[in-house]
Parts: sequence; structure tokens; C-alpha cells
Amino acid sequence: EDLHAEVPEDLQIGEHGYKYRIVDGRVMPPYITPRCYGLSRRIETRPTDICFVSYPKSGTTWLSYIIVLLTGNAGPSLERSFCWLESSWTHPINEDELGSDPKPRLFKSHMPYDMALGGVPHQSPCKYIYIARNPKDVCSSYYYFESNKSWSGFYDGGWDHWLQMFQDGKVHRGDWFHHVLSWWEYRDADNILFLHYEHLKRNTRAELEKIAKFLGLDIPLERMDEIEGSIGFSAMKNTEFSAMKGVKEFGKFFRKGEIGSWKEYFTVAQNDRFDALYQQRVDSSGIDFIFE
Ligand code: A3P
Repeated sequence: EDLHAEVPEDLQIGEHGYKYRIVDGRVMPPYITPRCYGLSRRIETRPTDICFVSYPKSGTTWLSYIIVLLTGNAGPSLERSFCWLESSWTHPINEDELGSDPKPRLFKSHMPYDMALGGVPHQSPCKYIYIARNPKDVCSSYYYFESNKSWSGFYDGGWDHWLQMFQDGKVHRGDWFHHVLSWWEYRDADNILFLHYEHLKRNTRAELEKIAKFLGLDIPLERMDEIEGSIGFSAMKNTEFSAMKGVKEFGKFFRKGEIGSWKEYFTVAQNDRFDALYQQRVDSSGIDFIFE
């Protein structure tokens, strides 16, 4: 089955063969079909539902594993423990099937705030956890993920070109600054938790406890120790359940899961230009990132 087939005339091909769709004015991957996006927008969420959200390459899979472990809601594999409604790729569930899912239902999304699953997040009954990562690591991780791989955008450009596209908001999921700041603005809403990849990396236990508290979970100490011990990069990679075998080979999907890998990609001039853009776009918002 050609998963990109629905409304094929919507599909656009940009420079270096990069395939995309414009959805509500944003650049989206080919697999965000109007039908799936519509279902994700319209879904009636419940107070027990948990939606984890991010810009791609920000630690989504890591967060999904943490939520699955904390809630004890494991399916046959990690990628089959949650539902990714907006994507036609991994769309095993129709609306009827969703109704019979065990609680809490877990949803993944990569949408900016105004395109969120279930309508307007701060007015929705469910809980949202957003994870953000410093944009230099996001951009380089995304390049590693997309370049010369045939699973999404079919992109065959070089790093310089990719960086420019990222800065111009022309990669899938659109402008990083808009995406992150759109959720950041609502970070204090009762049903929204805003996390940073770097904090999760550096203060894993404290962040785990923050997530558990937000979800209203009372996890025994020993179980918390166990979870903390099983969510490291190599632990995830070497665990059948979390190795994302049903999706891709771990090493093609992920690099090293470190802070600061961007340094292997950015030239000094590129870094200076990026810093200037960052200052301009992020400055007044009060958001802060750890870059190394
Ligand atoms: P790198 O490319 O820097 O390695 P997403 O799941 O949103 O696609 O994000 C992917 C990024 O999260 C990858 O970054 C990946 O290595 C990192 N990641 C995945 N599991 C992780 C873990 N257990 N600890 C730290 N980082 C992890």
C-alpha cells in the first residue's frame, strides 16, 4: 500500500527531492494526510488521555518510553503502545478501535499548538506533555535522520542546504521557533507540562518525578529506581521492546542521544548566523536552552 497516496495532488516536491505537504499553511511530511490530520484534530479526548508532543528529533521516543513505563501501559512494542493519529504511516487504529483502548490512551503528536490533537489544548480535558530540545541539536539530528534515507522526505541535499531550510521553516513540521514558542506560551496551563530534553538528560530523576506528579501517579521508590535505570540511551537501544525494531534500525534513527552533537556539523560562520537568528526569535520569550 502506498501510504502517501491519499490526495496525491497535495504532495509537493521541493529542492533536493524533498517531499512535503502544506497543511494549514505549514510544511508537513507526506504522511500527514488530510484524513489523518482531521481525525487527530476532531478526536474527543478524555481526562485520562495523555498526549506527548514535540518538534521532531527532540526526544519524543525517549519521552514515550518514559510515559509507557510510568503508566504501565506497554503494548507489544514501544511504537505499538501509543497512537499516532496524525500520521497515515503508523495508523493502525480507527476511531472505533480507539474507544476500546485501555486507559490511559497515549497519543503522540508533532504538531504546533494551533494544530494540536483534540482541539485547543488548554481547553481540552486530556493532559499534554511537550518536550523541547535546543535547536542546534534538533537541526543536526533531523539532518542525520532525513538525509539520504527513503522513509519520509526523500531528501538528498547537503548539510548547508538543510540548515538553511531549517532556518527558513521549510522542513517538515515547519518553523522550529514558532512550534516551540507556541507551546511555551501555554506552559503554565494546568493540563500542560513543558519539558526540556537537556534537563531530562542532566536531572533524569527529578524530571521523572515531575512527570509522575503531573500525571497524578504515585510510583513506589523501587519502581522509580528501575525506570530510571532502564531509560538511558544504551538501555533503550539494547532492549527489544524499546529498540523501535518495527520502525527502523536504531542506529539509523538515532545518533548518540547526547547534548552538543551539533558541533560536528556547524561551521563557526554557520553557528554565528544561527546565534543571531536565535537571539532575534527567542529572546523576549524567556525560554532558555542548554547547548552543550
Ligand atoms: P540524536 O540524533 O542526537 O542522537 P525523536 O525521538 O524526537 O525523534 O528524537 C530523537 C533524538 O532523541 C535522537 O537524538 C536520539 O538519540 C535521542 N534519544 C532517544 N532515546 C534517548 C535516550 N534514552 N536518552 C537520550 N537521548 C535519546
